[in-house]
Amino acid sequence: MNNNIYIANLKMNGNIQLIDKYINIFKGYTGNNLIILCPPFTLLDYSSHKINSNQSILSLGAQNIHHETEGAFTGEISANLIKPYSEFSIIGHSERRLNGESNEIIAKKIITCYKNNIKPILCVGEYNYSDNVDETFKIIELQLKPLKNIILDSQLSLLIAYEPVWAIGNNNACDPNRAGEIANFIKSFTTNNTNINEINILYGGSVDDKNHEDYLNQKNINGLLVGSASLDPSKFFKIVTNNR
Ligand code: PGA
Repeated sequence: MNNNIYIANLKMNGNIQLIDKYINIFKGYTGNNLIILCPPFTLLDYSSHKINSNQSILSLGAQNIHHETEGAFTGEISANLIKPYSEFSIIGHSERRLNGESNEIIAKKIITCYKNNIKPILCVGEYNYSDNVDETFKIIELQLKPLKNIILDSQLSLLIAYEPVWAIGNNNACDPNRAGEIANFIKSFTTNNTNINEINILYGGSVDDKNHEDYLNQKNINGLLVGSASLDPSKFFKIVTNNR
């Protein structure tokens, strides 16, 4: 039994051939892990159709939503629009925060997700490495603080991906023990300060088929958010099935 969560974040990459490869490679997969494929918006419809017609175990996620559900927001995408295809949405990825997305807007997006039955995957992480982990805790705390104001009636669950920005896309993955320490911090902050019932913490940042287990061995990490390595479905499959 292994209930880990694996997210493939294709970012602004991919095409229908890549989606087909994903469907094919996961055809015989019988494990108990949750596997979430996050393609670009224009591939969600195709991916959802393929997943359903092949009875694939893959789940789908969007890479972002707007905090409003409709309106005059040229070039944006709403929870309403992705809902027919996506069970999940990444929220607050660092590549969006770099474009000016604030913690407050991100909190609004999470509420919009909950109101529309989309499960949010919140990304947090510091831009620069610091030797002093307390400095990193402070940054993460600022990113998590708006969650305190989320009070909805239903039972809420949240996936939080700790993604140190300095470790993204460069083969300079974070030391697993440090990632574990930060995951412990995230766990205790969210348990003590929010009314979210179920929190799962993932690590993301240069995860590949060599280093993945080191993160999952950490007490409070039970998932991985994979960018670059997810562009090779067989590598991503190896990460999920634990074959080196
Ligand atoms: P990476 O990307 O695996 O290429 O570092 C992770 C991410 O940005 O989500």
